[in-house]
This record gives sequence, structure tokens and C-alpha cells, in this order.
Amino acid sequence: MTPVRIAPSLLAADFTRLGEEVRAVAAAGADWLHLDIMDGHFVPNISFGPGLVKALRPLTDIPFDVHLMIAPADPYLAAFAQAGAQWISLHPEAGPHLHRSLQTIRALGCKAGVVLNPATPVESVAHVLDLTDLLLVMTVNPGFGGQSFLSSQLDKIATLRRMIAESGRDIALQVDGGVTAATAPACRRAGADVLVAGTAVFGATDYAAAIAALREEA
Ligand code: DX5
Ligand code: ZN
Repeated sequence: MTPVRIAPSLLAADFTRLGEEVRAVAAAGADWLHLDIMDGHFVPNISFGPGLVKALRPLTDIPFDVHLMIAPADPYLAAFAQAGAQWISLHPEAGPHLHRSLQTIRALGCKAGVVLNPATPVESVAHVLDLTDLLLVMTVNPGFGGQSFLSSQLDKIATLRRMIAESGRDIALQVDGGVTAATAPACRRAGADVLVAGTAVFGATDYAAAIAALREEA
């Protein structure tokens, strides 16, 4: 099994000190920075856009993992690539042509991800695995941090782990929503190798200890 990677979600950071927060979490051992982009339309909340991603990019070397919760997403893919995202993930429900969106993300030089909402079946990615570098299983309904982990999604993680193994492809399997030191072990047992954590990291007083705890528990 690949080593677990921890991706703190900036959504739970102190928005009055975002630059400091990015530097602090990178120094504390974060593997990636997860950036939640919300439009108040695809999800019932608004966060931030490519301008902020671009402003934060010079502050650290860790990969930027952009989770798009916007519809349509296609018109903004280039802006996030140019802002410095290494990973760009979107939801199949965000547009009519997931295959084309994934092609576009790769053509922009980024890794392409597909995000499955709690009600979205695994079949929605079965025919695009050749264009997918990351699969993200939502373990909450997207839109807000600090929600409770949906253990109903563990079977989906396990099924996707099998699908990835059968495909023989190098595809990361990420979990997002309610991930804590208590829920991380079940995610890991189901086959996840990237854990997104907002509240569990930025809500802690000691970021390094919080990241280490997630890593150790997983
Ligand atoms: C929810 C976002 C998550 C969120 C996770 O829509 O996609 O990335 O920030 O926050 P926690 O870890 O607090 O559930
Ligand atoms: Zn997210």
C-alpha cells in the first residue's frame, strides 16, 4: 500500500491570515494543500477563486490540490492551472462532458481528478479511468467543513480501490469530509491513500501534532 498523504483543507483556516496558515501547515508536515472552490450554485456556499490560489502559490512548494465545487467548471479550468494547481478535481454533475473536462485538465499540464458525492455511483467513473489521476470520495455532502463523517461511503472507497487495482493504473484514492484521527483508520482500511482534513488540522492548536496523529492513526 502506498504511504498515506495528508491534505489539509484551507477552508478551515483563519481567513484573516491565509498566507501564514499555508506556511504553517506546510511546515507542520502537510503533503498537499487542499483548496475548496465553491460557487454558491453547485453547492450552497461560496469560498474563493483562482486569484487567491495564485496569490498563495509562491508561499510553499507542496502540491496544490484544487477541488472544484462549481458548475460549469470547464470555463475555469485554465485559470486554476495558471494559478498553479497541480491537481484539479471536479464532480461529474458539474457538466455534460466529464471525459472532455478530464482531457482538458491533462492538456493544461495538471493531474485530473473526479469527485463522487455521497449519492454518486462508482459507475460514473468506470469509463474514464484512463483519463483519471485521482478519485475523491466525499464522506459528507459538499459545501461546508466540520460535518460528520458518512461511514456509508466506506464501501464505495473499497469498491474504487478494487477498480483501480483491476485497471492497473496509478490513480490516487482520496477521502474528503469529516476525516479525523478517529475516522482515518476506516478510510485507510477501505483503501484510501490521501486524506483531506479541514477541521481536524486547522481546528487544532498544534498543526504538526494533528497531522502526525492522522498519519499514525491511518
Ligand atoms: C467540503 C469540502 C471539504 C471540507 C472538509 O465541501 O470539500 O474539503 O473542507 O472539512 P472537514 O475536514 O472539516 O470535514
Ligand atoms: Zn474538498
